[in-house]
Amino acid sequence: MIWTDFLYHPFWALLSALLAFVVRRQRRGAWDPRVCSVQLKGKTAIVTGANTGIGKFIALDFARRGARVIIACRNLSSLDSVKEFAERILEEEKALHILVNNAGVSGLPRQITKDGFEVSFATNHLGPFLLTMLLLDLMKRSAPARIVTLSSVNHWRGRVDFSHFHGDNITYFMDNVYNHTKLHNVICTNELARRLQGTGVTANSVHPGVVMTEVMRHYPLIIRCLFNIIGFFFFKSAEEGAVSSIYCAVAEETEGITGKYFDSDCSLALPAPLARDAALAVKDFEICERLTSKL
Ligand SMILES: NC(=O)c1ccc[n+]([C@@H]2O[C@H](COP(=O)([O-])OP(=O)(O)OC[C@H]3O[C@@H](n4cnc5c(N)ncnc54)[C@H](OP(=O)(O)O)[C@@H]3O)[C@@H](O)[C@H]2O)c1
Repeated sequence: MIWTDFLYHPFWALLSALLAFVVRRQRRGAWDPRVCSVQLKGKTAIVTGANTGIGKFIALDFARRGARVIIACRNLSSLDSVKEFAERILEEEKALHILVNNAGVSGLPRQITKDGFEVSFATNHLGPFLLTMLLLDLMKRSAPARIVTLSSVNHWRGRVDFSHFHGDNITYFMDNVYNHTKLHNVICTNELARRLQGTGVTANSVHPGVVMTEVMRHYPLIIRCLFNIIGFFFFKSAEEGAVSSIYCAVAEETEGITGKYFDSDCSLALPAPLARDAALAVKDFEICERLTSKL
């Protein structure tokens, strides 16, 4: 017997199966939307990017609770398109109680939109930022109302450099750009919450977990294969990934909570230090306001 035989011992297969079983059991958080009896009859909700992935299950949950659900698909990276959509909502809807900024993209190559923004920043941050700002008065009039923005635990690896918005000084490697955009999500949501104090509109950001969706569609085939193989055993399903967002948007437990970051198991979590810097938040928010209002 040589020592490498040890590596082929059935013990390892058993251990992997046991580990996969334990992780699967733990993927379900403490809060279960199926036993939450909150009804949304008479309420209106918008979920962006709800044609697939996590957003689809968020929208389905709201619809099951009786909400009128508007799913906002394509194109958040075009600010004209965001404006058109918001104008239509303001014309046609009398109230808006829930806005879930879910749409997002990762791994896109460098591209500058016709508005002059880096495409991932436009899609993940500036588009949802503008949409939220345009719908804010309607939400205030509809209060109590909730805004939920899907960020990611990856925001911990993001950096703030305002030249990124225009595609400058960015290193395109793996999920770098995505991480920066997800950090801006948390920073601006916190500042929005501060500005909304006393209005009855709350704003929080969430991490959905590592979720088996199409989020890796822009990565090389080998990375997608690895993601899917590992994900099959260990990652959340899209339905499970929707839970923390649904918790923020509808649960009685989160009523009145604002300016917080929720983890994928629905617990409150501390965001990265940059996302707790109040002065940076004011600056970031003002820059995003200026960039999006110019157009
Ligand atoms: N999956 C994860 O592990 C994970 C982890 C942390 C955070 N998140 C966040 O969760 C959110 C949902 O992601 P997912 O995992 O469900 O990914 P997904 O399956 O790729 O779904 C993303 C959604 O965003 C939409 N979208 C992309 N670009 C858009 C644009 N320019 N305009 C409008 N909609 C656009 C997509 O629409 P099309 O189908 O038309 O492209 C799709 O509906 C994202 O914000 C993501 O950053 C996901």
